[in-house]
Amino acid sequence: MTDTFRNNDSKLKAEVRRVMDSRAASGLEGMIGGLEAIVINVQPERQKSAVQQLLETTGHGYRTAFERGGVRTCVLGLEGSADILVTARQEGDNPFRPFNTGPKGDALPDTRLETLVFKCPELEKVVEIQKGRGVRFMTDQPVRTDAWLFIQTEPSPYTGNSVGYIQWLGDEGQYVCEGASGLSWTFDKPDWPHLADIRELDHAATRVRAEERDKAIIEFMELTNYHFDFAIYVEALNSITNVARLTHDDYAMVFTSGIEPFRSVEESGPTELFIHNYNTRVHHLAFRTENIVETFEALGRHGMKFLVELVGSPEEGLRQTFTEGFEDTFIVNEYIHRYGGFDGFFTKSNVTMLTKATERQ
Ligand SMILES: [Fe+2]
Repeated sequence: MTDTFRNNDSKLKAEVRRVMDSRAASGLEGMIGGLEAIVINVQPERQKSAVQQLLETTGHGYRTAFERGGVRTCVLGLEGSADILVTARQEGDNPFRPFNTGPKGDALPDTRLETLVFKCPELEKVVEIQKGRGVRFMTDQPVRTDAWLFIQTEPSPYTGNSVGYIQWLGDEGQYVCEGASGLSWTFDKPDWPHLADIRELDHAATRVRAEERDKAIIEFMELTNYHFDFAIYVEALNSITNVARLTHDDYAMVFTSGIEPFRSVEESGPTELFIHNYNTRVHHLAFRTENIVETFEALGRHGMKFLVELVGSPEEGLRQTFTEGFEDTFIVNEYIHRYGGFDGFFTKSNVTMLTKATERQ
């Protein structure tokens, strides 16, 4: 009989030290900045409703829509936040499709958060260094337009996510370039006051298999300037929440995995069960939220369904909740309020209650 695989942080931390050293030696430190955009791909017939849903549940506003190279892109933005690009392929292969399968994921075979795009002011230099370290990109060379340079990695075998690098050549956030054709799509951003309290993208959480937790985190560190910060183990739910950060103020990257691998639907806990149903993917997008009690109530009045009530309290420093997964994207929204003076990032009790709530997915 073989021993059951079980995560522990001492192995991970040794790998973290190695990659931090190797990153520094390669000259990559300081070369890759913060998150500029996330790319959520959806089924073409659901693209407009996916955008409308985001407009009604976040502070982001509609900027523009265009088609380029067989892909239709809608741009949603908010000052101080990463942009949200909602895309749909009109033609061509989808390299992410193998990562979307599962008993529940199969319903929307092209739908997932595909790419996290980071700012890279010296993109060509970074790509040369990364190629020398064995990183595989989807194109041999960066794509150059009049507005930007862009390249992205092949989907990760551990997460199904791709990391993109963008260098703006003109105005920042100017995605529309020569050769793109504008789409005359319009959307109504509701003028509900509570939407103004939903602010920037705070973190996204990717669910990864227990046995690939270390590899997923190390790979992300190899591709960015993020460092591993801490992990919270919830033994009773077979779940670890791992946090990687760039700086104290930047978007954070969260990885959630089992402590031990999936065994069965009944006994593996909500984290490994989600992967069984939907494959490895971004599970939720967390938006920093002011006046969270009022915002939570107002969202409910407008029809939002939640997996859990607000968890946490001002005394603990943190209040959070999860919505149900959206029907056009599978993605859950988290709303998170950090009270003044709270210097931690998460609390174990909130992580436990939020993880428990995802049993219902
Ligand atoms: Fe979260």
